[in-house]
Amino acid sequence: MKKLYRNMRIFTPEDTGRPLSGEAQGKIKEIVCGSMLVEDGIIAKVGTDEQVTKDLCPKSVSFEKDFGGACVIPGFVDPHTHLCFAKRREDEFGMRLAGLPYLEILARGGGILSSVNAVKAATEEQLFEVTKKLALAALAKGTTTIEIKSGYGLELDLELKMLEVIRRVGKETPLDVVPTFMGAHAVPQEWKTKADEFVDEILVKKMLPKVKEQGIAEFCDVFCEEGVFSVDQSRRLLKKAKEMGFDTKIHADEVNDLGGAGLAAELATTSAEHLLAASEENLKAMGKAGTIAVLLPATAYSLKKPYANGRKIVDCGTPVAIATDCNPGSCFCESMPFVFGLSVMNMNMTVNEALTAATLNAAYAINRSKIAGSLEVGKQADFLVLDGETPVTLAYHAGSTSVEAVYKMGENVA
Ligand code: NIG
Ligand code: FE
Repeated sequence: MKKLYRNMRIFTPEDTGRPLSGEAQGKIKEIVCGSMLVEDGIIAKVGTDEQVTKDLCPKSVSFEKDFGGACVIPGFVDPHTHLCFAKRREDEFGMRLAGLPYLEILARGGGILSSVNAVKAATEEQLFEVTKKLALAALAKGTTTIEIKSGYGLELDLELKMLEVIRRVGKETPLDVVPTFMGAHAVPQEWKTKADEFVDEILVKKMLPKVKEQGIAEFCDVFCEEGVFSVDQSRRLLKKAKEMGFDTKIHADEVNDLGGAGLAAELATTSAEHLLAASEENLKAMGKAGTIAVLLPATAYSLKKPYANGRKIVDCGTPVAIATDCNPGSCFCESMPFVFGLSVMNMNMTVNEALTAATLNAAYAINRSKIAGSLEVGKQADFLVLDGETPVTLAYHAGSTSVEAVYKMGENVA
């Protein structure tokens, strides 16, 4: 049966078959007095009230709702999270505020490695409960599609345990979940002096084939950073992953400019993330290679680092997406509205650019553009009703999510 949603002020990017870049990233379609006809969760028609209702037989509509002219945007797509974890790391945040650098905490066996111990100690059920709760918190703030990475296991069984939990979150919540294998999140203590072997023997030969065989991850990601995985090691891993049919991503140039963005361009990865320290040359090369820049301003906020230059990256023609990076260490934030505000206020992106970044380009960054990211015929009816006249409210009403209602496949879920 069909559902008719009427009298909405709709703002949406328009999908042209590829991520939007440069000027196109700032173009948003507005439909005043808009309507959406939804059939089995999919948008069957969208346009002005008149266009949508013209030849519509009233008997075919089982449910109708008037939104009183409220502002409506696509559901947020969060293309980069680590929100499958067992325990918070509030103590570390205090240490960082007192001046201890993030990478130093990791080098001392804390950070990601302390999350590994927590995942090891938790049962699958405990891990699932914590993850599900956080995923539902993200949903309440407007995220309708989310990527979640493994990477707090670092050994085969634990990585598979995480990926199973991530799969269940997709099954047992309204969210669409895209799973990423990130066994290359840190070098385990016992491999500290043998990182090359960890990459070639454990990640490439042991873990990738098993993860592939089980079909529980779509992407493979790596933390390319000083003291973690080098550009060469990242290249070996991602090349192999690509050959095996994974799509690829890379945590690149978050703290130091190692050339991770250049590697992303060389391998034409789907996306490269962070990029706080990436060079302009490599950022441009990414755009040419079709790699999306996924910017994570809440991480810069939480690490007290200078923000990535979103303005410059849009201007250089590389498509930009934004994400929370939600994790227990560098960024405990599941709020896309907060990330939206930071993108506008601290990365100098326009509201329209940020909207494209948080929806359509984000959907491209996790291969979900066919079903999510814009309010157009054939895509899922995933949309948000905002408390405000336009998407500007997301940056303007600081500290509020401005998200009044969340619809997933045409159903009010939060
Ligand atoms: O994207 N940089 C690597 N990974 C995460 C942090 C994970 C953690 O600290 O637990 C990030 O910031
Ligand atoms: Fe991350």
